[in-house]
Amino acid sequence: MHVKRIGVLTSGGDAPGMNACVRAVVRTALYHNIECYGIRRGWNGLISGDIIRLDERSVGHIIDRGGTILYTARSKEFMTEEGQRKAVSTCKFLGLDSIVAIGGDGTFRGALALSKYGINVVGIPGTIDNDISCTNYCIGFDTAANTAIECIDKLRDTMQSHERCSVVEVMGRNAGYLAMYVGLAVGATAVLVPEEEIDFDRDVIEKIRQARLNGFTHYMIVVAEGAGSAAQIAAQIKEAIDLDPRVTVLGHIQRGGSPTGRDRVNATKMGYLAVDLLVKGQKNCIVCTHDGMYSAIDIETGLNQKKSIQQMEVDVLAAMTGL
Ligand code: F6P
Repeated sequence: MHVKRIGVLTSGGDAPGMNACVRAVVRTALYHNIECYGIRRGWNGLISGDIIRLDERSVGHIIDRGGTILYTARSKEFMTEEGQRKAVSTCKFLGLDSIVAIGGDGTFRGALALSKYGINVVGIPGTIDNDISCTNYCIGFDTAANTAIECIDKLRDTMQSHERCSVVEVMGRNAGYLAMYVGLAVGATAVLVPEEEIDFDRDVIEKIRQARLNGFTHYMIVVAEGAGSAAQIAAQIKEAIDLDPRVTVLGHIQRGGSPTGRDRVNATKMGYLAVDLLVKGQKNCIVCTHDGMYSAIDIETGLNQKKSIQQMEVDVLAAMTGL
């Protein structure tokens, strides 16, 4: 069936590069003479019919903008059967053949639910957490990591001057990919992630002691929010040794800012591929990338996959921190 009209939405936590992706979806659709509509505020917009026509101009000069021009939300109503039925009615009423949904695993669970009513949905991974199992890379991760790295580099200056210990909390919800990557990039004394079992003495205190023995007088502890709070880790360090750590929670600053080149290009390729897949008749899939190659996987299969921290990252961290 020839695709005539598609809708695009962003859902869940925003991620830098979502705008670049929306732009790519719109431009590729228009290239194929497909009409494109922006659904605002995530799945909520599909329920309420909060929809705008998107043309070439409406996505001009957004490739460099953080956030999402379509707004985003985590829709509770869409998790109900009633909400899903309303969304299906909107699709039928407006003649939307297919939906492109940019977001994380919550977004894809919504996409899967919608697909059961016969609406074709293509998901594009966009989350700073990088925790979508079926893809190596999610839009927003690189920008968020670089933001965190820049902040921690600044922190290090003052920690070094005052010979202090810093405990920095990095986002990622239940996943430690962002914290591990950032920890390796800033040369952290220790990195705590939820995927690895934590022995506080071995993983924090011993690492600080080792650093001290090596002549260092300041220490940078990076903790993924899913592995514990920075405040709690700092209190534990204070109790265990004679240090008075300073706490920094990087928080939502990690989700903002102009996307890096890597995020812009990934977002553009993924947005292009999503529409290309629709044109070729592919149904209900998630766009993914591995080793620089792009492909698609069935939504349900993709959601059922498992992802873990690369063993190599764990080994490298051990070597870099001396334990
Ligand atoms: O999933 C993206 C994310 O930024 C997580 O890293 C974080 O735990 C969560 O969203 C924060 O959500 P909210 O924007 O609702 O505070």
